[in-house]
Amino acid sequence: MSPKKMPLEPFKIKAVEKVKLTTREEREKILQEAGYNIFAVPAEKVFIDLLTDSGTAAMSDQQWAWMITGDEAYSGSRSYFRFEATILEIFGFKHVIPTHQGRAAERLLFEAVVREGKHIPNNIHFDTTRANIEVRGGVAVDLAGEEAYDPDSPALFKGNMDVGRLEEFLREKGKEEVPLVMITVTNNSGGGQPVSMANIKAVSKICRKYGIPLFFDACRFAENAYFIQQRESGYQHKSVREIAREMFSYADGATMSAKKDALVNIGGFITLNDDDLAAELINRLIISEGFPTYGGLAGRDLEAIAQGLREGVEEDYLEYRVGQVNYLAELLKEEGVPIYQPPGGHAVYVLADRFLSHLRREEYPGWALSVALYREAGIRACEIGGVMFGRRDEETGQMVFPRLELLRLAVPRRVYTLSHLHYIAEAFASLAEKKESIKGMRIVYQAPYLRHFTVKMEEIS
Ligand code: F0G
Repeated sequence: MSPKKMPLEPFKIKAVEKVKLTTREEREKILQEAGYNIFAVPAEKVFIDLLTDSGTAAMSDQQWAWMITGDEAYSGSRSYFRFEATILEIFGFKHVIPTHQGRAAERLLFEAVVREGKHIPNNIHFDTTRANIEVRGGVAVDLAGEEAYDPDSPALFKGNMDVGRLEEFLREKGKEEVPLVMITVTNNSGGGQPVSMANIKAVSKICRKYGIPLFFDACRFAENAYFIQQRESGYQHKSVREIAREMFSYADGATMSAKKDALVNIGGFITLNDDDLAAELINRLIISEGFPTYGGLAGRDLEAIAQGLREGVEEDYLEYRVGQVNYLAELLKEEGVPIYQPPGGHAVYVLADRFLSHLRREEYPGWALSVALYREAGIRACEIGGVMFGRRDEETGQMVFPRLELLRLAVPRRVYTLSHLHYIAEAFASLAEKKESIKGMRIVYQAPYLRHFTVKMEEIS
């Protein structure tokens, strides 16, 4: 991809949703009322919402059309069979189990396989997979390569697992201690970076050697497959569908949040080969999510997912999608904004501690930048840094911060236009001019878990 190629939308707009730009005075008041927590800002008061790419996609006319045909039968609905057939075709596993979103799929899977003290390696666990493992007393182990933590490394597959460390880990623990291995594509907690086919193959080989199943956390599998096509030798002439099928052929199953690459607002699934495990998951599904042919979703949701998956692997769409994120990254670089390199498939991650280098980590530069960006331009983005992952070491009493202090600008799919991207870059340009005046933050209230959702902050004057 040329550095700043204009992303060309392979669609035109048929329905629009009004957004309103608030005044700076209004935003000041909203921030105060929200306790300087961007999660507490009403979405209507946000002009451009980059909080997440999850469940925020614009659906196509085709998706809406299929929704009308939704079969709402309790059991054996036509919509389920279309959903199942699409997933079997794209993923290639044997069984398909619908769930209401990704974390429900994770809960079912980990409930079935994780026991106290068991280990689940991943490149980097997303927070819901980690939480679903830890809540059952399991240990979530991150084994991404070192370059995942180096925002300046130009490597093209920074989502790769460190196969040396994986092999060592499995040799030491063995099958008894490791019920399964996961790979997250793309690696959301590590800059949205892709995993190469070579790495997937190598991980698969090691897992097979030790007799341990390999599962994908497949939320953004289509973006990952597109990166393989663009970057890995031997894949230029393969279709994204073929690449996805090959990726999955090295694994035993996948969990998926359809809210990402399936272009819907709600939904998820588990797909896998093992008959016994599938039967067990279905029993658990019936207890908590619903009958196996709807799993907590309406028939119309299943239709939207089936159609969304087909659109999500279309190459003109993916070229635009990944191109749009890349274009935003290039605009920000032109304004001198330090970002995690190369940009991810679904988001640009700003290196907040470098941008606000006058602030100490204890002053939460990522959070301060999220507040400043909203105040400046009504744009909402998500801190992935000291507030989200910082914790106090119980022995030393010192705060321990994550290695990267990021502000994630996640781009919803098919939602924002080129001018919106320029507006975001302009907002950063104005912030860059006055960044020394951006104040650090202090926590005034925090919950014991997942504190970023409800934390209350104030600015340090
Ligand atoms: N796995 C990954 C890699 C994710 O990014 C997410 C969600 C999930 C699992 C859970 O899926 O939300 O459908 O239950 N990520 C969203 C985000 C929330 O903003 O990155 P879910």
